[in-house]
Amino acid sequence: METTRVGVVGLGTVGTGVARLLTEHRDRIRRRAGHTVELGRVVVADLSKPREISFDSEMITDRLSDLTADEEISVVCQLIGGLEPARSIMLQILESGKDIVTANKALLAEHGPELFDRARELGRSIAFEASVGGGMPIINSIGQCLSANRIDSLHGILNGTSNFIVSQMEEQGWDFPTALAEAQARGYAEADPRMDIDGSDAAQKLAILSHLAFGARLHWTDISCVGIDELEFVDLEYARQLGFRIKLLAIAQRSDAGLELHVSPTLVRSGQPLAEVRGSFNAVSVVGDAVGRVFLQGAGAGQMPTASAVVADLIDTAVGRTRITFQTLELWSHGEVRVKIRDHSEGSGHYYMRFMVDDHPGVLAEISGVLGRHQVSIASLIQQPEESGHPSGQVPLVMMTHRATEGAAGRAIEEIEELPSVRGSGVRMRVLS
Ligand code: HSE
Repeated sequence: METTRVGVVGLGTVGTGVARLLTEHRDRIRRRAGHTVELGRVVVADLSKPREISFDSEMITDRLSDLTADEEISVVCQLIGGLEPARSIMLQILESGKDIVTANKALLAEHGPELFDRARELGRSIAFEASVGGGMPIINSIGQCLSANRIDSLHGILNGTSNFIVSQMEEQGWDFPTALAEAQARGYAEADPRMDIDGSDAAQKLAILSHLAFGARLHWTDISCVGIDELEFVDLEYARQLGFRIKLLAIAQRSDAGLELHVSPTLVRSGQPLAEVRGSFNAVSVVGDAVGRVFLQGAGAGQMPTASAVVADLIDTAVGRTRITFQTLELWSHGEVRVKIRDHSEGSGHYYMRFMVDDHPGVLAEISGVLGRHQVSIASLIQQPEESGHPSGQVPLVMMTHRATEGAAGRAIEEIEELPSVRGSGVRMRVLS
């Protein structure tokens, strides 16, 4: 009977999960693939490191060449993070004639065009379901299941670490460092957790999804990106009082003017599906012209959810499905540019704003005057009573606006921050309409 022998490079959290699935669920995987899919070789950086699973000594090596030279191995899970040596390793694996499955979204977001071109030239494939959304099957949903649609919008919670941190702050009253440390302990966070909390990880994933869903051709750093690193507990609390939750949303919205893309903490009305996504879960709400709205939710990070996506890709590669879809995928192909990327300042939305102000007559009139001059109209306002914790004589002014352009809202805030009765920086977040 035919057997697909698999290589694994990198035995961290995800690599260990993949090895576990392949060894503990051989029969299930054999049934799904129609033949045996088995682990053939594992490449690690340090052979002396203690491991959760043990391997026969001839199976585990610290030399990539043992794997690339092994002609029985046809597909390799490339599971080391970061850019280098991950990129060079990926190219060497492709050159050695093997297909690739990867979870490394940073590598794809940065070097996707080069890697995909080389794979296509060599007649190999790269499968990457695990690179976005962990165990939530968004890549194949967009690339295959929704391929009859023009995708009109995509709203996603794409970073499990940020969602976990904000949920724990909201629900358990944890402070930011405690919640981040727990996300790291649970294996959700990137090696450099700044990528999670400053929104970079979500922007990389949004770039991959936008290439796939809209035929956008952009680099992830071109996406306007604000993370949760400056999110304050008081805003979670004011949002709750107004009937909202704050989520780090990655948004791609198509209009006649082009495609608007951004990542930022956003107020979502409580009770809406995206607002209720808690912990390390990811979710995507995608609208297609034929299908309407589709909502997907699943574990966005963690060992076994991510391994679930990697092994699904392995099965698809083993049966030959990936080879077919990879050739036709609208991702880093040389196809025409199908959508114009809209300048971020031209985008528009409803906003939540908060200012610390001196509590004296006329302050509100000054602020509303500035907003009015910039065509930003106030929809509702809460002036919080003076509370303990605020310097004496100062109060927070919290407001929601009607639709305004991003540029106008930004300019208005800058001007308001210059007013003598306004203290410190203003806070501005989008409200999902
Ligand atoms: N650090 C990522 C997250 C892992 O928290 O979502 C999955 O890409």
